[in-house]
Amino acid sequence: MRILHVAAEGLPFVKSGGLADVIGSLPQELAAKGNDVRVVLPLYRKIACNYHQDFNLAAQYSVSINYREIPVSVWYQQVKSVTYYFVEHQGYFERDALYGYMDDGERFAYFQKAVIEMMNQLDYFPDILHCHDWHTGMIPAMIKETHHYDDRYAHIRHVYTIHNLAYQGNFGPEMLDSCLGLPWSVYDNGNVRFDGGISFMKSGILYADKVTTVSPSYAQEILTPQYGEHLDLVLRLREYDLWGITNGIDLEEWNPKTDPCLPYHFNKVNVKRGKSENKLALQKDMGLQENKDVMMVGVVSRLTWQKGFYLVIEQLSRLCAEPIQIMILGSGEAALEEKMYQLEAGNRGKIAFYRGYNEELAHRVYAASDLFLMPSLFEPCGISQLISMRYGALPLVRETGGLKDTVQPFNEFEKTGNGFSFTNYNSDEMMTVLEYAIHLYYDKKDDWRKLVQNAMNTDVSWEHSANHYMRLYQEVSKQ
Ligand code: ADP
Ligand code: GLC
Repeated sequence: MRILHVAAEGLPFVKSGGLADVIGSLPQELAAKGNDVRVVLPLYRKIACNYHQDFNLAAQYSVSINYREIPVSVWYQQVKSVTYYFVEHQGYFERDALYGYMDDGERFAYFQKAVIEMMNQLDYFPDILHCHDWHTGMIPAMIKETHHYDDRYAHIRHVYTIHNLAYQGNFGPEMLDSCLGLPWSVYDNGNVRFDGGISFMKSGILYADKVTTVSPSYAQEILTPQYGEHLDLVLRLREYDLWGITNGIDLEEWNPKTDPCLPYHFNKVNVKRGKSENKLALQKDMGLQENKDVMMVGVVSRLTWQKGFYLVIEQLSRLCAEPIQIMILGSGEAALEEKMYQLEAGNRGKIAFYRGYNEELAHRVYAASDLFLMPSLFEPCGISQLISMRYGALPLVRETGGLKDTVQPFNEFEKTGNGFSFTNYNSDEMMTVLEYAIHLYYDKKDDWRKLVQNAMNTDVSWEHSANHYMRLYQEVSKQ
């Protein structure tokens, strides 16, 4: 099968969150199953600086945005079995951040138009066009509404994956014809209209042949007003075409036995020693008290309301009194960053905060941590808890979305489970479970050891989920 993935970020080139992990690993897994798999990304400044010299030119053409012809250059590079294409436009993409600009709507309208025309320019038409998140949500609509007369486009089947319903790409209606080239009828009939403007996310949900999201529980949750972000009604219209497929991780990139970022390598047999050594090295570098026996609680996260840090803030004094150290790596909302700085300042040697995005440090935090804290308010899948299990750091999560599907709480009678969880978004509940975990760590060492083994034995690979995607592609091909 020919499968083209379109996304706004992907490893190894550029990453701001879990979407990049998925785009870096799922296509490789699908290619290993014998498919012709390709990926298209925008050529951000970060990619241009680090990789451009190795790229080859694939095509040059133009697309119309705001009634002007805007040039497009498409570059490509092979990574293992997958071809990556990059859409270049200096004005739109060679900027410091990936998103968050006033003209994001126009930037990603351009990207999507460029991708659609790229197929024509390269005379490459996939069987499956797999779009990810709002940045690519208009592609099925644009193809179906404006290219339906062209058989080459009409044969494509569209899959749209929601990685996070909270980010919808909602813009003013004026870009409908000027940027996207769509007729007003799709606004009038409600297909792309949302709250007086247009929604890239809604459009993707309605126009794709199949819609997926990244865990079965989140697929259920988003059908409800509580999690539906005002699109639950729209999603319910597509309920029978909505699949929840849990993410996996790249087991080569995330392997404590070989990870080049770690001062000490370890596996299931010497995990205790490995953790101690990585802990001591991290404590030294981060100004924490050097003590290999203390329980290390790790956080590697975007600091946003989604991730549940308000629960942590509510319980600061109780948390600080516990016999633990906390290492927080992340950046995001200013108010949360400020809180983290205060927390560090009031607890030097016990709590460390590194503000920013740092790949190497992330690997080291997973390796050094005994417990990984992820009390999310909602979580479509979550990649971090999967990595933490692979590195023998037990996840403590709230039972929502993919966290609920991937973390089984410890059952002390059967000695089963691979982490800890609590149900309600309530900081007392979180603390009760955290205190239970602390008790096990210090007083029930056999149980802790067993849990770590269970976590490291958990299958977090793509194997199972890639087969699900293949079944989905086969099913949609028959439609
Ligand atoms: P989300 O995509 O919602 O941010 P996920 O758990 O799916 O959450 O994925 C987060 C990914 O980004 C993980 O690979 C995690 O290790 C990484 N990550 C998050 N914050 C940072 C950071 N500050 N530095 C390095 N890596 C980070
Ligand atoms: C989003 C979600 C996260 C998910 C990731 C990859 O960023 O917030 O839960 O793991 O996408 O699918």
